[in-house]
Amino acid sequence: MMVRNRADVERVGPANADGFFTEAGMTRRIDEVIDESARGLRRHWTIRVDGVLAGDIALSHIQRGPLQNANLGYMVDAAFRGRGVATAAVRLAAEHAFGEVGLHRLEAGAMPSNVASQRVLEKAGFTRVGTTRGLLFIAGRWEDHILYELVGPDTPPAMTSASEPAVTSPSGDVSG
Ligand SMILES: CC(C)(COP(=O)(O)OP(=O)(O)OC[C@H]1O[C@@H](n2cnc3c(N)ncnc32)[C@H](O)[C@@H]1OP(=O)(O)O)[C@@H](O)C(=O)NCCC(=O)NCCS
Repeated sequence: MMVRNRADVERVGPANADGFFTEAGMTRRIDEVIDESARGLRRHWTIRVDGVLAGDIALSHIQRGPLQNANLGYMVDAAFRGRGVATAAVRLAAEHAFGEVGLHRLEAGAMPSNVASQRVLEKAGFTRVGTTRGLLFIAGRWEDHILYELVGPDTPPAMTSASEPAVTSPSGDVSG
């Protein structure tokens, strides 16, 4: 799916290492996703329509403690776009994020030119925070992003155990 949608992956996401779009590159990427998930930094789901792979969606840069925050990124295969798939997936991911994952806030960014993604976030109830300057280095330049947030229920944070990682890296993942 990443290979089929390579032009979009490169248009909206940071540059990938040489060989990313090969079988070996995809295997490395999957290993990274598994590793980040095991360390509690990521939740990653495939999106399926009638059992067919139609996209993926991820919570990344999960931060615990008093933040309980994550970045939301997603992609829908070109063949499945324009029929509400991303919006449904974002709503479901938010439900999981504020439910079993126990987060309090989600953020997501879209380039000003990515109107479809902005529309998805708005339809799923995200609030537009503003424009953040030069958030991601994409295709040779620092790209501004429109930042959105969704705040969950005001449940107090579960106290972070010592074994949970304290992550403070900036957000900006795109398709996970
Ligand atoms: C952005 C993306 C996930 C949307 O997926 P999707 O399943 O088509 O989204 P939905 O069908 O749920 O909603 C798309 C909305 O955008 C609107 N839209 C699409 N292209 C548009 C455009 N060029 N201008 C204005 N609105 C547009 C659609 O009409 C729809 O809104 P509506 O329901 O009010 O009519 C998909 O295009 C994609 O994967 N793009 C490449 C990767 C990407 O951009 N990921 C997000 C990075 S922030």
